[in-house]
Amino acid sequence: MNFIESLRAKAVKAQKTIILPEGCEPRTLKATEIIVKENIAKVILVGNEEKIKAAAKELGVCVCGAQIVDPVKSEHFEELVNAFYELRKAKGVDMEKARAMVSDEVYFATMMVKMGYADGLVSGAIHTTGDTIKPALQIIKTKPGIKSVSSTFVMIVPNCDMGSNGMFLFGDCAVNPNPTSEELAENAILTAQTAKSFCDMDPKVAMLSFSTYGSAKHEFVDKVANAVKIVRETAPDLAVDGEIQADAAMVASVGKTKCPTSPIAGQANVLIFPDLQSGNIGYKLVQRLAKAEAVGPFLQGIAKPVNDLSRGCSVDDIVNVVAATAVQAAN
Ligand code: ACO
Repeated sequence: MNFIESLRAKAVKAQKTIILPEGCEPRTLKATEIIVKENIAKVILVGNEEKIKAAAKELGVCVCGAQIVDPVKSEHFEELVNAFYELRKAKGVDMEKARAMVSDEVYFATMMVKMGYADGLVSGAIHTTGDTIKPALQIIKTKPGIKSVSSTFVMIVPNCDMGSNGMFLFGDCAVNPNPTSEELAENAILTAQTAKSFCDMDPKVAMLSFSTYGSAKHEFVDKVANAVKIVRETAPDLAVDGEIQADAAMVASVGKTKCPTSPIAGQANVLIFPDLQSGNIGYKLVQRLAKAEAVGPFLQGIAKPVNDLSRGCSVDDIVNVVAATAVQAAN
């Protein structure tokens, strides 16, 4: 069973309810038909019922197994507005604003997760990453003990003998534009945990830079080297090294030359990028040039699972991210 098959099988066992705020979006509707048919999750589609049914009919897909909820007509609407007001009043939100915000599909769906009416949320086929995850950061917040939500991509590179038979986790390619050393360290630890719990991998973490062991001097390099120190203090059993260049991290012969004493050089399967520019560009290059499958991004450190799609996502991507969200909800 490959990673995707195993993810879908775990989701079938978990039987979680996933809410999709982009209820009229064609790929979301096609994905819903598959998710329900294959019993991957129970689906709540958010939006106007007539519009959703008309869009599904036009596409020739059946979403009859999904629940459809229109925010303002929902039996939960007033409860969610009141709860949202309580959560955000210190931030200047009054009842009128709360009502307007919870009428928005993504805020409504995020409140449904917060209040336990759904186990997880997937959005982003039409919304930007910011529009998908900002409500979650404001409402659902981090898990206890976690300061910063970050993300990881599972990258599956065909015909590749590096990483774990071509499988890697890349973090953070989607959330934090310019993480501090502390945030980088937290991302590394969370990504290693995701590698274990989600992919059954033995994580070997490389904190990437344009420098290996001080071969270049720059404040950007210092940021990564400090993050490595923090990871070692916080998670002493984790196999981690850096700052390290990507070739030394992944290619055994280069690792032997540049850092022969490293515990992970040439074997890294978890790659932590120093900032969002490098992470986002890096994952897209590998996805397009190496024809890798990029599954995610999955948010980590958030109290309940919320996941973002790329606006270029396929129907299969949505099915996979819904399956992953269901698995996260079960963990
Ligand atoms: N972890 C936890 N909480 C956070 C985080 C974080 N990483 N970032 C922001 N927050 C919280 C803040 O504390 C704040 O909470 P509060 O309102 O209760 O005080 C709330 O979220 C909003 O904070 P802002 O600073 O106003 O949020 P910002 O405008 O910076 O938006 C966001 C946060 C959306 C994550 C922003 O940093 C962003 O747009 N990141 C880049 C996303 C992106 O475009 N990624 C690339 C595309 S993804 C792809 O290609 C697959």
